[in-house]
Amino acid sequence: MSAAKIPHPPQPDPEPPRRPRTEVITRGFDPMLSVGSARPAVFRSSTYVFSSPEAAERAFDIATGRAQPAPGEHPELIYSRLNHPNAEILEAQLAPLETDAREALVFNSGMAAIMTALMAHMQPGQGIVFTVPLYGGTEHLIQDFLAPLGMRGRPVPAGDGPGLQRAIAEMPNLAVVLLETPANPTLIMADIAQAAAAASRRQPRPIVMVDNTLLGPAFQHPLALGADLCLYSATKYLSGFSDMIGGAIIGADPALMHPIRLKRSLFGNILQPDECWILDGRLPTVGLRMQRASENAERVAELLARHRAVSRVFYPRLVRDLEQQRIIAAQCDAPGAMISIELRGGKPAAFEFLRRLKLARNAVSLGGVETLACHPKTTTHSGFTEAQFATAGVTDGLVRLSIGIEDWRDLVADFESALDAVTRLQL
Ligand SMILES: Cc1ncc(COP(=O)(O)O)c(C=O)c1O
Repeated sequence: MSAAKIPHPPQPDPEPPRRPRTEVITRGFDPMLSVGSARPAVFRSSTYVFSSPEAAERAFDIATGRAQPAPGEHPELIYSRLNHPNAEILEAQLAPLETDAREALVFNSGMAAIMTALMAHMQPGQGIVFTVPLYGGTEHLIQDFLAPLGMRGRPVPAGDGPGLQRAIAEMPNLAVVLLETPANPTLIMADIAQAAAAASRRQPRPIVMVDNTLLGPAFQHPLALGADLCLYSATKYLSGFSDMIGGAIIGADPALMHPIRLKRSLFGNILQPDECWILDGRLPTVGLRMQRASENAERVAELLARHRAVSRVFYPRLVRDLEQQRIIAAQCDAPGAMISIELRGGKPAAFEFLRRLKLARNAVSLGGVETLACHPKTTTHSGFTEAQFATAGVTDGLVRLSIGIEDWRDLVADFESALDAVTRLQL
């Protein structure tokens, strides 16, 4: 019988292209691989059975980078430190959340994601330009871990656009540009498109990474602005309920993701199956949660801006600086749900305010459905030197708020009564 006469099995209809809000629910998940379960099951196995020794050899060649998968090839699973079904499903559903993304990788914390990205793309003798303030842990990592390994850091105050472009142009052997925008806790914006353009003027081009934890994935899309990698603490908005620790990297270019995947396998800091499953279930609502929290924050910010106990409000919708306004208009779809305030009366006033809050809880972290408040100078950023506090604008009276999705009227009432109490003490 000639090959032409062999009947071909019917081909499934090609899948129509789908939009991100659909893909975040459906992509990368085949119910028939989970005994028909409509939502993913949890696969807790540490090791996977190969269909043949040849399949095992091929899977190892691809996992270690010795071979590239052919288009459409799905190498078999090996061992859960390298990869597992819940990470694969989660990564397939994370990628569409970030405009222009092609791949995602998940980690067991935001710090693990940041550390792995930097270790994959920097060598001793190379440099990193970064905006300050950064999240305290990231700044600590660059100054106290990377520097002794011979990876030099050059900080630039967030909001200093010309300074950032100069640093990118001048720093010898520059490997990475890291922006955190808006900056935590002062919410000052850096211009992602400008930094990416400055990076493109260098040969070889440094990799532009953006910590998108505060405004992504709903309101800011760094890859569409020319950045290479989005870094996330998934502990925050992505998971959204302050009940797990996780991290993610989302990128447009598989060639930049590949070395990070290899380092993750080596370090063993992939997100575990149970956490992947939890995070996966939270992704379809991240846009809804962020939208509601941002609307609430706008109402709260209005109250804070007119209260006499508050000398300054840091919130993207309320900035007066024209350059900051330009960046926000060009880069963000909404102001987000983080607000920082400067209280008249310094640390005693800030502490009294935190003590008086009844609905908002005094805790670090952010991005949960519940409202949290903290004093960065003595908590999240307490490792800073006096000089770093001054450059970053982290003062004694600064309080950072992460607004949740409660009824905004209850939040406004809670903040108003705590601020009134602070004012009464000062009279
Ligand atoms: C902006 C930002 N990036 C990174 C991190 C680190 O994330 P994780 O605590 O998940 O390691 C944090 C934590 O607060 C953060 O606020």
